[in-house]
Amino acid sequence: MSKTAIYPGTFDPMTHGHINIILRSAELFDRVVVAVAKSSGKNPFFELPQRVELATLALAGHANIEVVEFDGLLVDLAQQQQANIIVRGVRSIADFEYEAQMAGMNRQLMHGLETIFLTTHSEWADLSSTLVRDIARHGGDVSKFVPASIKQAILDKLA
Ligand code: COA
Repeated sequence: MSKTAIYPGTFDPMTHGHINIILRSAELFDRVVVAVAKSSGKNPFFELPQRVELATLALAGHANIEVVEFDGLLVDLAQQQQANIIVRGVRSIADFEYEAQMAGMNRQLMHGLETIFLTTHSEWADLSSTLVRDIARHGGDVSKFVPASIKQAILDKLA
């Protein structure tokens, strides 16, 4: 049976930390659906369509990875995509506490939904989208943390 995993997040913007988790997931599962959440509550820097576009560009060329947007419950998307696996990256113990709570609640909402945690590569353990935006806003170089197309999009948006 083919296994589909969903990797959800706000991706505001997608960083090399996210991409590392996605590429490793694509080795483990037949199909990986990268689900870009609207996350209105986080008041995102990039609008949803641009976050989807930037993620799609960053992941182009990988046949078993697709990018979708969603605005609703993750479990509804899982049902729609016929997936019973969620992948989340954990950078630290602090991440794990929040992630374990979300995994538990999602399992309550959808019987059989499993969340698999991948530890973030040490190179990206301190990375976050907020820090990338902040570094760029103050004139720092974010080339190491995001693909060139995303760096350019941040600079264009700040200009
Ligand atoms: N490398 C680098 N950074 C990483 C990372 C990694 N591997 N994994 C996460 N991060 C960072 C992100 O950049 C982000 O940074 P930011 O806070 O500065 O923006 C932060 O960690 C967390 O972001 P993300 O992984 O995108 O999670 P999120 O908290 O923004 O999104 C959803 C969480 C979208 C999955 C969750 O809110 C959701 O499922 N929403 C749908 C509604 C729902 O079903 N709610 C009920 C849940 S029980």
